[in-house]
Amino acid sequence: MDFSRPQSQVQVPAALTASQNGDAWRVWTAALPTLAEEFLARWSLRLDGPPAHGAVALVLPVLQADGSPAVLKLQPVDEETHGEPLALRVWGTRHAVELLNCAPDSGAMLLERLDATRTLATVPDGTAALEHLSGLLAHLVAVPAPAGLRLLADIAQAMLDRVPTYCRSLADSSERRLLATCAAAVRELLDEPGARLLHWDLHYDNVLAPLPSAQVSGRAPWLAIDPKPLAGDPGFELLPALRNRWDDVIGTADVSRAVRHRFHLMTEVVCLDRERAAGWTLGRVLQNCLWDIEDGAVTLQPEQTAIAHALLGS
Ligand SMILES: Nc1ncnc2c1ncn2[C@@H]1O[C@H](COP(=O)(O)OP(=O)(O)O)[C@@H](O)[C@H]1O
Ligand SMILES: [Mg+2]
Repeated sequence: MDFSRPQSQVQVPAALTASQNGDAWRVWTAALPTLAEEFLARWSLRLDGPPAHGAVALVLPVLQADGSPAVLKLQPVDEETHGEPLALRVWGTRHAVELLNCAPDSGAMLLERLDATRTLATVPDGTAALEHLSGLLAHLVAVPAPAGLRLLADIAQAMLDRVPTYCRSLADSSERRLLATCAAAVRELLDEPGARLLHWDLHYDNVLAPLPSAQVSGRAPWLAIDPKPLAGDPGFELLPALRNRWDDVIGTADVSRAVRHRFHLMTEVVCLDRERAAGWTLGRVLQNCLWDIEDGAVTLQPEQTAIAHALLGS
């Protein structure tokens, strides 16, 4: 006789399980089918197709009780993800996906279903895609941050505190100098950290088109999903798009020029002061480099150094 529990109708994609290491991740992904079943029942949802995922979230296409399409997004609650429902609520539906329901303590959200086959990554012309993304960013960062989000001021200070120790891990003295230069740029901006609502992860795969039925008048043609929000200066928003389609940058004769072209386009459309935006972008480079060093790296990623050198003109 088989006393095992009936198999869940929710299958966690192997690629999601393998996307991160560590015990906490193993425990989280092992519990995902049960969590999904709980919210399918609680919010009266039926599965409606194969799951999607990114590096962190499981996203299940579902039908609501009235038959309308939506997705159930499940992700671990941490300092990056916990503000997502709040940011979506503050932005509203004009430039972002609609939040239909949420259980913030469980990392569960019911979201409007968008057209996952139409992301900015599918727009063939790189400049056109960057213009769309920058136009969207201009609207998102025009909004003041609500209370309750993490602050760029705190993130920047925590980075600066770690720089002296982390720098020593780098094998190459020119890389140590570069990291110190990024830190100096951030230090100069520390007394004006900004207070706008930032998305932090606006790259092409996080910008989707609405379904035809949701393309209503006054709504933008491209919508943001997946914010890891914080309160800060919009200059801290540019790096994900500067790195997008990096092969296109590498494929040009002059990598620095290609990076600066993207930077100029974005700062123009978003109406940012270039000097401040360059400083905060060096801050994002610093953030990525510190994470890499934390993970054991003793050299910096070439794309990070290329972006820093392009902005520093070095
Ligand atoms: N509202 C939505 N409608 C349709 N597909 C979605 C929606 N939200 C997310 N997805 C799909 O799920 C994937 C992962 O979701 P995302 O919110 O970006 O999480 P992650 O933090 O893991 O990247 C997306 O790349 C997209 O394909
Ligand atoms: Mg994503």
